[in-house]
Amino acid sequence: MKADVFDPRALREAFGAFPTAVTVITASDPADRPVGFAANSFTSVSLDPPLLLVCVAKTARDYPAMTAAEHFAINILSETQKDVSIKFARPLEDRFA
Ligand SMILES: Cc1cc2nc3c(=O)[nH]c(=O)nc-3n(C[C@H](O)[C@H](O)[C@H](O)COP(=O)(O)O)c2cc1C
Repeated sequence: MKADVFDPRALREAFGAFPTAVTVITASDPADRPVGFAANSFTSVSLDPPLLLVCVAKTARDYPAMTAAEHFAINILSETQKDVSIKFARPLEDRFA
């Protein structure tokens, strides 16, 4: 099916009707500054070997730091941490302030 058949707003509402857990993926950039963004693309892949999947937008400000980092953390948010997910989804200068 061709993409231009879809009404973008209707598609956005359809995607938004499917609730998934929200995580905040964090790491350090080469200058040791913390970086992080809200993500719901987190998926468990395998126990042995231990593997997970996160899709990072190539256009994201943190893409270079995230893909260069040797370590990262998956912060699984509780339902009381909506404020955290909003902070880490917005283009704030310092999401850790
Ligand atoms: C509920 C939710 C889930 C998101 N999931 C992802 C995701 O899986 N991958 C991703 O790259 N961005 C995701 N985003 C967008 C990022 O949180 C963030 O807005 C984006 O990286 C833009 O950041 P920037 O302004 O620093 O470039 C999600 C946003 C929201 C609100």
